Amino acid sequence: MTSNHFASRFEPNPNAKTDGQREAILDNPGFGNHFTDHMFLAEWTPGTGWADARVVPYGPLMLDPATAVLHYAQEIFEGLKAYVHEDGSIWSFRPEANAERMQRSAHRLALPELPTDWFLGSIRDLVTADRAWAPSGGEKSLYLRPFMYASEVFLGVRPSQHVTYAVIASPAGAYFPGGVEAVSIWLSSEYSRAGTGGTGAAKCGGNYAASLLPQQEAAQHGCAQVAFLDSTEHKWVEELGGMNLFFVHSDGSIVTPELSGSILEGVTRDSILQIARDLGYDVIERRVSIDEWRDGTADGSITEVFACGTAAVVTPISSLKWDGGEAVSGDGEAGKITTDIRSALVDIQYGRAADRHGWLHQI
Ligand code: COI
Repeated sequence: MTSNHFASRFEPNPNAKTDGQREAILDNPGFGNHFTDHMFLAEWTPGTGWADARVVPYGPLMLDPATAVLHYAQEIFEGLKAYVHEDGSIWSFRPEANAERMQRSAHRLALPELPTDWFLGSIRDLVTADRAWAPSGGEKSLYLRPFMYASEVFLGVRPSQHVTYAVIASPAGAYFPGGVEAVSIWLSSEYSRAGTGGTGAAKCGGNYAASLLPQQEAAQHGCAQVAFLDSTEHKWVEELGGMNLFFVHSDGSIVTPELSGSILEGVTRDSILQIARDLGYDVIERRVSIDEWRDGTADGSITEVFACGTAAVVTPISSLKWDGGEAVSGDGEAGKITTDIRSALVDIQYGRAADRHGWLHQI
């Protein structure tokens, strides 16, 4: 979807952080803790369509208590990153893929689709205003969080007639506190993330809200993430609370659960499918049963397991735990193929390897 009318106005933040304050944050940003000086906003109504694109000082959004999103969760979001290359230029990674996924999510949540040029323009204008916030060095990046919510003040249950689109930016280091160390995963026996015909393929806040109780259970068992099975047979591996999964087999093939309608179509997942093919692996999208994960890990036919996502990048999985058991992958450390795929991906993102697929967009 495109429209050629994108332009935003800019209102500088008179209370922007000082250089010293910003640099202290960029030294050790963590994940999701700090936000830049500006944010992007735009509004939609049925009569006008998308309008009032603006980059304004970052700050609280004032919501009437009857704002629809607070009651019926009509909300979607995206996650993508901007990377500083060695020459100081800043690049986003596959932003059109995020724009298109946001359009699909909008359709499912009965929200208006944001044209691709608005999505790309919002990223460009916010990162341009806050380019000093894009961290360089190590594996730091500027995490971008576009989101859209029902902003009409109305308690009837119907699609909102006023919708707000926003983008905030957050300097980021590793998502997990241990950096790129391998993490353990808890298998949720009681809960599913999404059901057939539900919103599992959409990136909406509700899916993440539903993952929080099982995620808490995972933490109580010393695990960093929770794994979900399908809601019908409780047999097929879907994804983690906020990441897709890959399995490396002893014959060198790489398998990821096929998109079922209740799995998020991860941009990192899709990029890894391509990168693994480029590296010469046999890559297969098919159903993966929980027995295959458990037994394959135990008998050595699955040699490596990893999670992936924009925030998590590629995170090795050391073990799967469940009530009464544990299956440890390989020697519990990051495997060679996981490490190679991870390096191939981040080398493209940071401009150290050729961008063969035209994935990078200069800001
Ligand atoms: C992302 O990877 O961008 C996500 O939205 C998932 C979340 C765990 C931060």
